[in-house]
Amino acid sequence: MTVKLSDVRWISRTPAPGTDRSARAQCTFRPCREASCRPDRAPVSARFAIEALTKAHQRKTFLCGNERIDRYFREAVTPDIKRRYATCFVARDLETNRIAGFYTLSSSNVPLTAVPEPLASRLPRYPTVPAVLIGWLGRDQSYAGLGLGEALLFDAIKTVTEALIGAHAIFADAIDGKAAAFYAAFGFTPLTNRPNSLYLPVATAQRLLSGEAS
Ligand SMILES: CC(C)(COP(=O)(O)OP(=O)(O)OC[C@H]1O[C@@H](n2cnc3c(N)ncnc32)[C@H](O)[C@@H]1OP(=O)(O)O)[C@@H](O)C(=O)NCCC(=O)NCCS
Repeated sequence: MTVKLSDVRWISRTPAPGTDRSARAQCTFRPCREASCRPDRAPVSARFAIEALTKAHQRKTFLCGNERIDRYFREAVTPDIKRRYATCFVARDLETNRIAGFYTLSSSNVPLTAVPEPLASRLPRYPTVPAVLIGWLGRDQSYAGLGLGEALLFDAIKTVTEALIGAHAIFADAIDGKAAAFYAAFGFTPLTNRPNSLYLPVATAQRLLSGEAS
């Protein structure tokens, strides 16, 4: 599957309940785009809001089909957020308030030796490449077939491309080979020594977003 990011309309990020008015005002000015690029699918933003995880979100019933991911989301993500090891964004079903999916972002780095060629030879000879890690991503099983995994991934990419902190790449730690295939379908390349860790240069994502390349 080839996905042209420039064709994708994004979900608008809505502020978390309780966020202050300035944050709400900022959100209003975010580009309001929504997945999916597939004409046969309903726009995801008609049904979901993507927002930062808060205490108000109900997580107990979330089931993405992978026990480790479900347990992490139920039990471990909050301490990670409190320690600023990760940020977590959720897709909330606007009708029921159920959490339909989530992803986390953390600052990280990739050893230069793990970056595949020809990407590696174009990079400075520092030992590591600054990157943002998509550590966890999951979509509740009852929301399959809506393009929500794609929408969450693109929202994560967009968040990284807009961040004001230097990061050369986005990389994703896939939980298994199937998850790795999901990222690969969107242009992520496996690291040389870790096939389930996949890499996408931010500049590539930006070019694709602006429609300069496909
Ligand atoms: C991986 C996951 C997030 C995908 O979510 P989803 O809602 O099924 O994804 P979408 O429906 O948006 O799929 C988008 C596209 O990716 C494709 N895709 C989905 N899973 C795929 C996979 N494992 N391999 C290759 N392509 C895949 C879909 O076919 C779809 O393409 P299409 O539009 O041409 O049909 C979801 O299956 C999940 O939560 N799995 C369990 C947890 C997991 O593996 N997380 C991954 C990160 S660790």
